Amino acid sequence: MTGPGSEGLQLRRAVCPGSFDPITNGHLDIIGRASRLYDVVHVAVMINQSKKGLFEIDERIELIREVTAEFGNVQVESFHGLLVDFCKQRDIPAIVKGLRAVSDFDYELQMAQMNIGLSGVETLFVPTNPTYSFLSSSLVKEVAAWGGDVSHLVPEPVLAALGDRLRRK
Ligand code: PNS
Repeated sequence: MTGPGSEGLQLRRAVCPGSFDPITNGHLDIIGRASRLYDVVHVAVMINQSKKGLFEIDERIELIREVTAEFGNVQVESFHGLLVDFCKQRDIPAIVKGLRAVSDFDYELQMAQMNIGLSGVETLFVPTNPTYSFLSSSLVKEVAAWGGDVSHLVPEPVLAALGDRLRRK
């Protein structure tokens, strides 16, 4: 079919990229909101070999799959390489990112401008829910490592995985 409206037949895709070591309620909020705006949301766990994480990539993927299953249109995978190549290979025209505070903006703007210059992929910024404006995976790991309560900051399966991992360290 051609003509006005026929472009709607193509699935609208977006990607939420990150390290997700581990996924927090802040990430989940952004992924959930993206999942209401797009037909398919790809969550890309980007592999950074120079950064040893607390969780293996496969563990991060499993946790993200578990906590995003309720959305029904989220696909989770890892990728080693440029985010724009992930997008090109899957026909994804948009990157969705959360902006927590002005301090995020400088670097995020640089990446967005680099990515559109490299490949034409757009970046859309979503304001983080103020409840999570201070939240990052690094802070969650640090607080949890010292026995602080992070139960309101991460989904339940992540809390369990954190407890398990930190007990064994
Ligand atoms: O959760 P993070 O670590 O803040 O996410 C940063 C990430 C993974 C989204 C960013 O570093 C990235 O896109 N890396 C993939 C490699 C790449 O495309 N680099 C060029 C960015 S302009």
